[in-house]
Amino acid sequence: MQKLTITRPDDWHLHLRDGEALKAVLPHSARQFARAIVMPNLKPPIRSVIEAAAYRERILAAIPSDQQFEPLMTLYLTDNTSPEEIVKAKASKFVKAVKYYPAGATTNSASGVTDIRKCDRVFATMEQEDLPLLLHGEVTNTDVDVFDREKVFIETHLIPLVSRFPKLRVVLEHITTSEAAQFVLNASSNIAATITPQHLLFSRNTLFKGGIRPHYYCLPILKREKHRLALIQAATSGNPKFFLGTDSAPHARNTKEHSCGCAGCYSALHAMELYAEAFESVDALNKLEAFASFYGPDFYQLPRNTEKITLAKQTWRIPDEVPFINTGLVPLRAGEEMSWQMMEP
Ligand code: DOR
Ligand code: ZN
Repeated sequence: MQKLTITRPDDWHLHLRDGEALKAVLPHSARQFARAIVMPNLKPPIRSVIEAAAYRERILAAIPSDQQFEPLMTLYLTDNTSPEEIVKAKASKFVKAVKYYPAGATTNSASGVTDIRKCDRVFATMEQEDLPLLLHGEVTNTDVDVFDREKVFIETHLIPLVSRFPKLRVVLEHITTSEAAQFVLNASSNIAATITPQHLLFSRNTLFKGGIRPHYYCLPILKREKHRLALIQAATSGNPKFFLGTDSAPHARNTKEHSCGCAGCYSALHAMELYAEAFESVDALNKLEAFASFYGPDFYQLPRNTEKITLAKQTWRIPDEVPFINTGLVPLRAGEEMSWQMMEP
């Protein structure tokens, strides 16, 4: 296949940041995607509908005049989120989901939830209002090995949660393990998952290939090859429970190449090309459109896009760096060649 034309995709998990960083990264996402679920882990986080409305306006103002893009907003769940805020969020129409971060799990998660059961009143209201819950599915207990944190979250928190709230719509975000894929597969139809390009393309070996490679460090961390293969299988299976979410998470070069580097891979520049390579590796390019463009909007009960994009089989080199705040931003697989390229309209 030399050209692949598909319905314009959406990104169901994206970090856009704010201010100058937002202005630097937004055009990359808007070039590839029509819409994105925007993560609320700013400093301070987006905890209320009022804050989400203001952030949404800042995003809209940052869209270049020759591009179109629709930000779909989320609220950051804390121990103090009220059921009333959930009702307001649903009524706003522009808040599409609520994001759960376990306190301390990842970037800007200090105000996250300390005990998931503290949020049961909020979950009951979300179930009633039919507002999806997006999970960073990792435990943070220091006695749990970092490679087991997703699996332990499923066993100790997620299984009980879905049995307490069987009708709650849940997205297990950026899944990284065969256990997560299996859980979602066996769960009811209101439970789905997003999968990132890095977890489809790389195993944890890549993190240490020839030395420590901070630009491959994200959370949840890359896992063993057998897990990558399970994710490839899930993404290319044609099952509508699995859809695209890049988790593109920009951090300036100096904060990644650091003695205590930040978690996050930057893929907004070339997300569709990365996914195309992953799908092509198992001869499943014919499954890419539904994964990227159909199953997400179906889950979120939004219309599918009607515009098209085209990917062409042509070699190009990913830049070493793109402009960002202070020091530049290093994209995933910087400096390497890619075999697919998105064509300009
Ligand atoms: O790698 C990650 N980066 N994982 C997250 O959960 C957060 C994200 C970020 O905001 O940088
Ligand atoms: Zn994320």
